[in-house]
Amino acid sequence: MPEALLFEKSRPGREGVSVPRCDVPQTSIPDSLRRSSLSLPEVSEVDVVRHYLRLSHLNYCVDEGLYPLGSCTMKYNPKVNEAVARLPGFARLHPLQDPSTAQGAMALLFGLQGMIAEIGGFHGVSLQPSAGAQGELTGILIMRAWHAARGDAKRNRILVPDSAHGTNPASTSMAGLAVVEIPSDRRGNVDLLRLRAQLDDRVAGLMLTNPNTLGLFEENLLEITRLVHEAGGLVYGDGANFNAILGVAKPGLMGIDVMHFNLHKTFSTPHGGGGPGSGAVGVVEALAEFLPGPLAARVAAGGEPRYEWRMPSRTIGRVKSFNGNFGVLVRAYTYIRMLGAEGLRAVAENAVLNANYLQARLKDIYPVPHGDRTCMHEFVAQGKIAGAPDIRALDISKRLIDLGFHPPTNYFPLIVPEALMIEPTETESRETLDSFIEAMRTIAREAVSDPALLHDAPHSSPVRRLDEVKAAKELKVTAG
Ligand SMILES: Cc1ncc(COP(=O)(O)O)c(C=O)c1O
Repeated sequence: MPEALLFEKSRPGREGVSVPRCDVPQTSIPDSLRRSSLSLPEVSEVDVVRHYLRLSHLNYCVDEGLYPLGSCTMKYNPKVNEAVARLPGFARLHPLQDPSTAQGAMALLFGLQGMIAEIGGFHGVSLQPSAGAQGELTGILIMRAWHAARGDAKRNRILVPDSAHGTNPASTSMAGLAVVEIPSDRRGNVDLLRLRAQLDDRVAGLMLTNPNTLGLFEENLLEITRLVHEAGGLVYGDGANFNAILGVAKPGLMGIDVMHFNLHKTFSTPHGGGGPGSGAVGVVEALAEFLPGPLAARVAAGGEPRYEWRMPSRTIGRVKSFNGNFGVLVRAYTYIRMLGAEGLRAVAENAVLNANYLQARLKDIYPVPHGDRTCMHEFVAQGKIAGAPDIRALDISKRLIDLGFHPPTNYFPLIVPEALMIEPTETESRETLDSFIEAMRTIAREAVSDPALLHDAPHSSPVRRLDEVKAAKELKVTAG
């Protein structure tokens, strides 16, 4: 039986706070202002503590166990990031404060812009966009503005590989440009012949995710960027999978002109569930003055450096109120400074090693369409089990919940039937990976011996199978 909700625990007169006796004259709120009773729950402190602790137990999180949600980079978030983000000098700043009174925060933003530029091989960085998807929109708007500034207004097409995340075509459409889909070839790369066929003077650019959403490094990357540039287009990099090449390769030196970084993924902020993120955008020199602003700038005025806001001269404008999601930026800064250059490289190396370990140990049971290639930070298996024709990827994922793991990403990328996209991240130990492998093998055995167990899963969760689309669209947080 579900436990009572906080309102159901309410009892008239029960209190959870004791306020000191009033020592100032009392006034009452005029009836005209009070439209109806507030109907707040009357509960004790222990009721409240138990209620929220119980809720927190219902919520699976990366602090509890492996969260191999492909493309989402659910890595462990070091607690030092939280400690720094909560320092009163950062946490209690007001966004409208005069920059002269927030020089420490400005120095942090300036430093972060520089570090991200260095890591990605870019000339300039804006920290404004608040998610990867918004970074994409920003990047496409920058590309559009660049073409317009050169008087090349007929370029209204963006080429998008068929393995791309849905946000890529969505961002393109929001920016008012047309999407042209480019198929992948048999090795999981962009099909070069099909790309060449589309390259003409209507192309504003290509959006490329590298490594792509199959977890594969784009083998023809340099050729692709050369071809697009030759045709007069620009190359957008979707940096959502940057964790795989962090500290190893610089997209800005490989022909990517503009790229977003999902700071909340690669640089470690708790994310998911719609919380604050950051989709910082890096650009090559030719695009730097189109960046959204304001940007943190350092003024060299002799002695102490001073920081102020600067709007790039041909900016596409603001894309976010105030100055980005500052708390996420503090965490990213802390993460980078704690790891240093060698630590960042180790992140990518271990992320790739862990994914390849899982791929090698699972591909005999779960088909991996590109399993002959070394994967990067993730790989895409198929939820198809020999001897269990009725079992689907969703059944496997739901059964994983019973066995104590968060499921992988399901049914994405769209070009792999029954896709299970698995990203273990660098922060998982060999023991954790082995227990995940064991769970996946157990499920494969159960699929053959007792398929109903999978079809009816999950058995251990507070709710069973939900209509996930409806659950997201019509969020219902009360019982009954
Ligand atoms: C490949 C790829 N691109 C873009 C995005 C969008 O990023 P965000 O969720 O930060 O908007 C995601 C998110 O999962 C992604 O996986």
